Amino acid sequence: MTEQDFIPETYSKTLEKGKVTWESPSNIALVKYWGKKKHQIPENPSISFTLNECKTITTLTFTKKESNKDFSFEVYLDGNKEDDFKPKIQTFFERIESYLPFLRDYHFKIETKNTFPHSSGIASSASGMSALALCLMSIEKELSVRLSAVETSFNENLFNQKASFLARLGSGSACRSIEGDLIVWGKTDSIEGSTDLFGVKYPYKVHQNFKNYQDTILLVDKGEKQVSSTVGHNLMHNHPYAQNRFQQAHNNLEKLKPILESGDLNAFVKLVESEALTLHAMMMTSMPYFILMKPNTLEIINKIWRFRQDSGLHISFTLDAGANVHVLYPKNEATQILEFIKSELVAYCQNGHYICDQIGFGANQIKE
Ligand code: DP6
Repeated sequence: MTEQDFIPETYSKTLEKGKVTWESPSNIALVKYWGKKKHQIPENPSISFTLNECKTITTLTFTKKESNKDFSFEVYLDGNKEDDFKPKIQTFFERIESYLPFLRDYHFKIETKNTFPHSSGIASSASGMSALALCLMSIEKELSVRLSAVETSFNENLFNQKASFLARLGSGSACRSIEGDLIVWGKTDSIEGSTDLFGVKYPYKVHQNFKNYQDTILLVDKGEKQVSSTVGHNLMHNHPYAQNRFQQAHNNLEKLKPILESGDLNAFVKLVESEALTLHAMMMTSMPYFILMKPNTLEIINKIWRFRQDSGLHISFTLDAGANVHVLYPKNEATQILEFIKSELVAYCQNGHYICDQIGFGANQIKE
Protein backbone atom coordinates (compact mmCIF):
# COMPACT_ATOMS: atom_id res chain seq x y z
CA MET A 1 0.00 0.00 0.00
CA THR A 2 1.08 3.58 -0.60
CA GLU A 3 -0.20 7.01 0.43
CA GLN A 4 -2.00 7.25 -2.92
CA ASP A 5 -4.32 4.42 -1.92
CA PHE A 6 -5.88 6.69 0.70
CA ILE A 7 -6.97 9.36 -1.78
CA PRO A 8 -10.72 8.78 -2.25
CA GLU A 9 -12.67 8.83 -5.48
CA THR A 10 -15.39 11.48 -5.77
CA TYR A 11 -18.04 11.11 -3.13
CA SER A 12 -21.41 9.82 -4.21
CA LYS A 13 -23.52 11.67 -1.64
CA THR A 14 -23.80 15.19 -0.31
CA LEU A 15 -24.53 16.02 3.31
CA GLU A 16 -25.71 19.35 4.70
CA LYS A 17 -24.86 18.65 8.33
CA GLY A 18 -24.40 15.96 10.91
CA LYS A 19 -22.76 14.86 14.12
CA VAL A 20 -20.51 11.92 15.05
CA THR A 21 -18.91 10.81 18.30
CA TRP A 22 -15.99 8.48 18.93
CA GLU A 23 -14.09 7.48 22.03
CA SER A 24 -10.50 6.48 21.51
CA PRO A 25 -7.91 5.23 24.01
CA SER A 26 -4.34 6.14 24.77
CA ASN A 27 -1.60 3.53 24.35
CA ILE A 28 1.69 2.68 26.02
CA ALA A 29 4.69 1.70 23.90
CA LEU A 30 6.78 -1.33 24.84
CA VAL A 31 9.29 -0.69 22.03
CA LYS A 32 9.42 3.08 21.66
CA TYR A 33 8.91 5.33 18.64
CA TRP A 34 11.57 8.02 18.96
CA GLY A 35 12.77 9.81 15.84
CA LYS A 36 10.85 10.56 12.67
CA LYS A 37 11.38 11.52 9.03
CA LYS A 38 9.30 13.83 6.87
CA HIS A 39 5.53 13.22 6.69
CA GLN A 40 5.38 11.50 10.06
CA ILE A 41 7.33 8.44 8.93
CA PRO A 42 8.95 6.78 11.95
CA GLU A 43 12.70 6.15 12.05
CA ASN A 44 12.07 2.82 13.76
CA PRO A 45 9.26 0.35 14.40
CA SER A 46 7.34 0.40 17.69
CA ILE A 47 4.77 -1.77 19.47
CA SER A 48 2.26 -0.78 22.14
CA PHE A 49 -0.46 -2.04 24.42
CA THR A 50 -3.70 -0.20 23.76
CA LEU A 51 -5.13 1.11 27.03
CA ASN A 52 -8.68 0.74 28.26
CA GLU A 53 -9.54 3.55 30.70
CA CYS A 54 -7.48 6.53 29.52
CA LYS A 55 -9.60 7.79 26.63
CA THR A 56 -10.62 10.88 24.72
CA ILE A 57 -14.26 11.30 23.71
CA THR A 58 -14.76 13.60 20.74
CA THR A 59 -17.98 14.83 19.15
CA LEU A 60 -17.62 16.39 15.73
CA THR A 61 -20.52 18.52 14.46
CA PHE A 62 -20.27 19.51 10.82
CA THR A 63 -22.26 22.07 8.82
CA LYS A 64 -21.88 22.79 5.11
CA LYS A 65 -20.51 26.27 4.48
CA GLU A 66 -20.68 28.73 1.56
CA SER A 67 -17.07 29.14 0.63
CA ASN A 68 -14.51 26.38 0.60
CA LYS A 69 -11.55 28.73 0.76
CA ASP A 70 -10.27 28.08 4.30
CA PHE A 71 -10.57 25.49 7.00
CA SER A 72 -13.16 26.50 9.54
CA PHE A 73 -13.32 24.92 12.98
CA GLU A 74 -13.69 25.64 16.69
CA VAL A 75 -12.40 23.48 19.53
CA TYR A 76 -13.86 22.90 23.00
CA LEU A 77 -12.29 20.98 25.88
CA ASP A 78 -14.73 20.08 28.67
CA GLY A 79 -17.17 22.64 27.28
CA ASN A 80 -14.65 25.50 27.25
CA LYS A 81 -13.33 27.06 24.04
CA GLU A 82 -9.66 26.10 23.60
CA ASP A 83 -7.94 28.25 21.02
CA ASP A 84 -4.57 26.85 22.14
CA PHE A 85 -5.42 23.59 20.34
CA LYS A 86 -6.13 25.33 17.03
CA PRO A 87 -2.59 25.44 15.53
CA LYS A 88 -2.13 21.68 16.02
CA ILE A 89 -5.49 20.97 14.37
CA GLN A 90 -4.79 23.44 11.56
CA THR A 91 -1.53 21.57 10.82
CA PHE A 92 -3.38 18.26 11.03
CA PHE A 93 -6.02 19.44 8.52
CA GLU A 94 -3.30 20.67 6.15
CA ARG A 95 -1.55 17.30 6.30
CA ILE A 96 -4.69 15.23 5.70
CA GLU A 97 -6.50 17.46 3.24
CA SER A 98 -5.58 15.53 0.12
CA TYR A 99 -6.93 12.34 1.73
CA LEU A 100 -10.19 13.96 2.89
CA PRO A 101 -11.16 16.46 0.16
CA PHE A 102 -14.39 17.45 2.00
CA LEU A 103 -12.49 19.23 4.79
CA ARG A 104 -12.88 22.74 3.37
CA ASP A 105 -16.59 22.25 2.62
CA TYR A 106 -17.72 22.24 6.26
CA HIS A 107 -17.49 24.19 9.46
CA PHE A 108 -16.51 21.82 12.28
CA LYS A 109 -17.28 22.07 15.95
CA ILE A 110 -14.86 19.78 17.81
CA GLU A 111 -15.96 18.99 21.37
CA THR A 112 -13.57 16.87 23.30
CA LYS A 113 -13.05 15.54 26.81
CA ASN A 114 -10.65 13.11 28.44
CA THR A 115 -11.37 10.45 31.04
CA PHE A 116 -8.04 11.29 32.67
CA PRO A 117 -7.35 14.68 34.27
CA HIS A 118 -6.19 17.26 31.74
CA SER A 119 -3.19 18.30 33.78
CA SER A 120 -2.06 14.76 34.58
CA GLY A 121 1.03 14.89 32.41
CA ILE A 122 -0.51 12.06 30.35
CA ALA A 123 -0.24 12.92 26.69
CA SER A 124 -3.68 13.20 25.16
CA SER A 125 -2.37 13.48 21.61
CA ALA A 126 -2.66 9.74 20.87
CA SER A 127 -6.24 9.44 22.10
CA GLY A 128 -7.23 12.91 20.89
CA MET A 129 -5.87 12.67 17.37
CA SER A 130 -7.18 9.14 16.88
CA ALA A 131 -10.67 10.16 18.08
CA LEU A 132 -10.71 13.10 15.66
CA ALA A 133 -9.42 10.97 12.77
CA LEU A 134 -12.20 8.44 13.43
CA CYS A 135 -14.88 11.15 13.48
CA LEU A 136 -13.63 12.41 10.11
CA MET A 137 -13.63 8.85 8.75
CA SER A 138 -17.27 8.44 9.80
CA ILE A 139 -18.13 11.52 7.74
CA GLU A 140 -16.25 10.15 4.75
CA LYS A 141 -18.10 6.86 5.14
CA GLU A 142 -21.44 8.68 5.04
CA LEU A 143 -20.38 10.60 1.95
CA SER A 144 -19.40 7.39 0.15
CA VAL A 145 -21.55 4.79 -1.53
CA ARG A 146 -23.37 2.17 0.53
CA LEU A 147 -21.53 -1.07 0.21
CA SER A 148 -22.94 -4.53 -0.15
CA ALA A 149 -22.89 -6.83 2.89
CA VAL A 150 -20.11 -8.98 1.37
CA GLU A 151 -17.81 -6.01 1.07
CA THR A 152 -18.50 -4.71 4.56
CA SER A 153 -15.88 -6.62 6.57
CA PHE A 154 -13.20 -5.76 4.03
CA ASN A 155 -14.23 -2.18 4.32
CA GLU A 156 -14.16 -2.12 8.08
CA ASN A 157 -10.54 -3.10 7.72
CA LEU A 158 -9.93 -0.32 5.22
CA PHE A 159 -11.78 2.12 7.48
CA ASN A 160 -9.46 1.29 10.39
CA GLN A 161 -6.38 1.44 8.19
CA LYS A 162 -7.23 4.86 6.89
CA ALA A 163 -8.24 6.11 10.35
CA SER A 164 -4.85 4.97 11.65
CA PHE A 165 -3.10 6.50 8.62
CA LEU A 166 -4.81 9.87 9.27
CA ALA A 167 -4.24 9.70 13.04
CA ARG A 168 -0.51 9.17 12.35
CA LEU A 169 -0.44 12.46 10.46
CA GLY A 170 -1.83 14.15 13.59
CA SER A 171 0.50 12.44 16.05
CA GLY A 172 2.66 9.40 15.31
CA SER A 173 1.69 7.32 18.32
CA ALA A 174 -2.02 8.04 17.67
CA CYS A 175 -1.96 5.52 14.81
CA ARG A 176 -1.58 2.78 17.44
CA SER A 177 -4.82 3.73 19.24
CA ILE A 178 -7.50 2.69 16.73
CA GLU A 179 -7.47 -1.00 17.57
CA GLY A 180 -6.04 -3.30 20.24
CA ASP A 181 -4.69 -5.05 22.05
CA LEU A 182 -1.10 -5.05 20.71
CA ILE A 183 -0.34 -2.74 17.80
CA VAL A 184 2.79 -2.51 15.65
CA TRP A 185 3.70 0.60 13.70
CA GLY A 186 6.70 0.86 11.39
CA LYS A 187 8.07 -1.49 8.77
CA THR A 188 10.25 -4.25 10.16
CA ASP A 189 11.22 -7.57 8.58
CA SER A 190 10.25 -9.76 11.53
CA ILE A 191 6.59 -8.62 11.55
CA GLU A 192 4.62 -9.52 8.46
CA GLY A 193 2.36 -6.75 7.21
CA SER A 194 4.07 -4.05 9.28
CA THR A 195 4.19 -0.66 7.59
CA ASP A 196 5.31 2.92 8.23
CA LEU A 197 1.92 4.21 7.07
CA PHE A 198 -0.41 2.92 9.80
CA GLY A 199 -0.64 0.67 12.83
CA VAL A 200 -1.44 -3.03 12.38
CA LYS A 201 -2.59 -5.63 14.87
CA TYR A 202 0.28 -7.77 16.12
CA PRO A 203 -0.22 -10.83 13.90
CA TYR A 204 1.33 -13.67 15.94
CA LYS A 205 0.45 -15.83 18.90
CA VAL A 206 0.31 -14.12 22.29
CA HIS A 207 0.52 -16.17 25.49
CA GLN A 208 -2.23 -15.98 28.12
CA ASN A 209 0.25 -14.22 30.47
CA PHE A 210 -0.09 -11.07 28.39
CA LYS A 211 -3.89 -10.99 28.24
CA ASN A 212 -5.41 -8.38 30.56
CA TYR A 213 -1.96 -6.98 31.35
CA GLN A 214 -2.25 -4.20 33.93
CA ASP A 215 -0.84 -0.67 33.69
CA THR A 216 -0.96 1.49 36.81
CA ILE A 217 0.15 4.98 35.88
CA LEU A 218 1.94 6.85 38.67
CA LEU A 219 1.60 10.59 38.19
CA VAL A 220 4.94 11.83 39.44
CA ASP A 221 4.84 15.17 37.68
CA LYS A 222 1.64 16.60 36.31
CA GLY A 223 3.20 19.74 34.87
CA GLU A 224 3.53 20.79 31.24
CA LYS A 225 5.86 18.64 29.17
CA GLN A 226 9.43 19.93 29.38
CA VAL A 227 10.15 18.80 25.84
CA SER A 228 7.42 18.69 23.19
CA SER A 229 7.33 15.50 21.15
CA THR A 230 8.27 17.39 17.98
CA VAL A 231 11.38 18.80 19.64
CA GLY A 232 12.11 15.39 21.14
CA HIS A 233 11.91 13.49 17.85
CA ASN A 234 14.09 16.11 16.18
CA LEU A 235 16.81 15.47 18.75
CA MET A 236 17.41 12.17 16.96
CA HIS A 237 18.62 14.00 13.86
CA ASN A 238 22.44 13.98 13.95
CA HIS A 239 22.30 12.17 17.29
CA PRO A 240 25.57 10.23 17.81
CA TYR A 241 23.75 7.01 18.76
CA ALA A 242 20.74 7.30 16.44
CA GLN A 243 21.55 4.54 13.96
CA ASN A 244 22.33 2.02 16.68
CA ARG A 245 19.14 2.94 18.49
CA PHE A 246 16.99 2.49 15.38
CA GLN A 247 18.60 -0.90 14.74
CA GLN A 248 18.04 -1.86 18.38
CA ALA A 249 14.30 -1.20 18.02
CA HIS A 250 14.15 -3.61 15.04
CA ASN A 251 16.10 -6.20 17.06
CA ASN A 252 13.86 -5.77 20.10
CA LEU A 253 10.72 -6.33 18.06
CA GLU A 254 12.24 -9.54 16.73
CA LYS A 255 13.21 -10.61 20.26
CA LEU A 256 9.72 -9.85 21.55
CA LYS A 257 8.11 -12.44 19.24
CA PRO A 258 9.24 -15.58 21.11
CA ILE A 259 8.73 -13.78 24.43
CA LEU A 260 5.10 -13.00 23.63
CA GLU A 261 4.52 -16.49 22.28
CA SER A 262 6.03 -18.40 25.20
CA GLY A 263 4.81 -16.04 27.94
CA ASP A 264 8.38 -15.45 29.19
CA LEU A 265 7.67 -12.71 31.74
CA ASN A 266 11.28 -12.37 32.93
CA ALA A 267 12.51 -11.67 29.40
CA PHE A 268 9.56 -9.30 28.83
CA VAL A 269 10.45 -7.27 31.94
CA LYS A 270 14.07 -6.87 30.80
CA LEU A 271 13.22 -5.85 27.26
CA VAL A 272 10.54 -3.34 28.24
CA GLU A 273 12.59 -1.66 30.97
CA SER A 274 15.64 -1.47 28.71
CA GLU A 275 13.50 0.25 26.04
CA ALA A 276 12.25 2.83 28.56
CA LEU A 277 15.74 3.63 29.82
CA THR A 278 17.11 3.77 26.27
CA LEU A 279 14.47 6.36 25.36
CA HIS A 280 15.64 8.51 28.26
CA ALA A 281 19.29 7.81 27.48
CA MET A 282 18.70 9.19 23.98
CA MET A 283 17.40 12.41 25.53
CA MET A 284 20.29 12.68 27.95
CA THR A 285 22.83 12.21 25.15
CA SER A 286 21.30 14.56 22.59
CA MET A 287 22.28 18.19 22.01
CA PRO A 288 20.62 20.00 23.68
CA TYR A 289 20.28 17.37 26.43
CA PHE A 290 17.41 16.78 28.83
CA ILE A 291 16.70 14.81 31.98
CA LEU A 292 12.98 14.13 32.01
CA MET A 293 12.95 11.82 35.02
CA LYS A 294 12.45 13.37 38.45
CA PRO A 295 14.01 12.17 41.72
CA ASN A 296 10.70 10.40 42.49
CA THR A 297 10.84 8.57 39.14
CA LEU A 298 14.14 7.03 40.25
CA GLU A 299 12.84 6.27 43.73
CA ILE A 300 9.94 4.36 42.17
CA ILE A 301 12.20 2.46 39.77
CA ASN A 302 14.51 1.40 42.60
CA LYS A 303 11.57 0.31 44.76
CA ILE A 304 10.16 -1.73 41.87
CA TRP A 305 13.50 -3.47 41.38
CA ARG A 306 13.85 -4.28 45.06
CA PHE A 307 10.27 -5.56 45.33
CA ARG A 308 10.70 -7.71 42.21
CA GLN A 309 13.86 -9.22 43.66
CA ASP A 310 12.24 -9.93 47.03
CA SER A 311 8.83 -11.12 45.85
CA GLY A 312 9.68 -12.92 42.63
CA LEU A 313 6.67 -11.20 41.05
CA HIS A 314 6.78 -9.87 37.47
CA ILE A 315 6.36 -6.17 38.06
CA SER A 316 8.10 -3.85 35.60
CA PHE A 317 8.04 -0.22 34.55
CA THR A 318 8.04 1.79 31.38
CA LEU A 319 8.27 5.52 30.77
CA ASP A 320 7.09 8.00 28.17
CA ALA A 321 8.91 11.21 27.41
CA GLY A 322 8.26 12.49 30.93
CA ALA A 323 8.57 11.72 34.64
CA ASN A 324 5.45 9.56 35.10
CA VAL A 325 5.91 5.83 35.57
CA HIS A 326 3.74 3.14 33.97
CA VAL A 327 3.84 0.07 36.21
CA LEU A 328 3.15 -3.06 34.16
CA TYR A 329 2.20 -6.47 35.57
CA PRO A 330 0.20 -9.58 34.74
CA LYS A 331 -3.40 -9.80 35.92
CA ASN A 332 -2.87 -12.87 38.10
CA GLU A 333 -0.30 -10.99 40.23
CA ALA A 334 -2.46 -7.89 40.53
CA THR A 335 -3.60 -8.25 44.16
CA GLN A 336 -0.12 -8.33 45.70
CA ILE A 337 1.36 -5.80 43.29
CA LEU A 338 -1.44 -3.29 43.76
CA GLU A 339 -1.00 -3.58 47.50
CA PHE A 340 2.72 -2.82 47.07
CA ILE A 341 1.94 0.13 44.78
CA LYS A 342 -0.46 1.62 47.31
CA SER A 343 1.74 1.12 50.34
CA GLU A 344 5.15 1.92 48.79
CA LEU A 345 4.85 3.87 45.54
CA VAL A 346 1.86 6.19 45.73
CA ALA A 347 3.75 8.36 48.24
CA TYR A 348 6.01 9.45 45.34
CA CYS A 349 3.09 10.63 43.19
CA GLN A 350 2.09 14.27 43.00
CA ASN A 351 -0.87 14.64 45.41
CA GLY A 352 -0.93 10.84 45.63
CA HIS A 353 -2.50 10.58 42.17
CA TYR A 354 -2.37 7.42 40.08
CA ILE A 355 -4.58 5.77 37.45
CA CYS A 356 -5.37 2.06 37.20
CA ASP A 357 -5.57 0.94 33.61
CA GLN A 358 -5.17 -2.26 31.62
CA ILE A 359 -4.94 -3.50 28.06
CA GLY A 360 -7.89 -2.50 25.87
CA PHE A 361 -9.21 -3.25 22.43
CA GLY A 362 -9.41 0.08 20.68
CA ALA A 363 -11.80 2.86 19.79
CA ASN A 364 -15.62 2.77 19.71
CA GLN A 365 -18.16 4.86 17.93
CA ILE A 366 -20.82 6.23 20.28
CA LYS A 367 -24.18 6.25 18.59
CA GLU A 368 -26.88 8.56 19.95
C1 DP6 B 1 7.92 8.67 23.82
O1 DP6 B 1 3.43 10.36 18.99
O2 DP6 B 1 3.70 12.15 20.75
O3 DP6 B 1 5.58 8.33 23.66
O4 DP6 B 1 4.44 12.13 16.19
O5 DP6 B 1 5.45 14.18 17.19
O6 DP6 B 1 3.08 13.56 17.75
P1 DP6 B 1 4.47 13.06 17.37
O7 DP6 B 1 5.03 12.25 18.62
P2 DP6 B 1 4.31 11.33 19.67
O8 DP6 B 1 5.59 10.58 20.28
C2 DP6 B 1 5.46 9.63 21.28
C3 DP6 B 1 6.76 9.12 21.71
C4 DP6 B 1 6.77 8.23 22.92
C5 DP6 B 1 7.02 6.78 22.52
C6 DP6 B 1 5.89 6.05 21.87
O9 DP6 B 1 4.71 6.29 22.19
O10 DP6 B 1 6.20 5.16 21.06
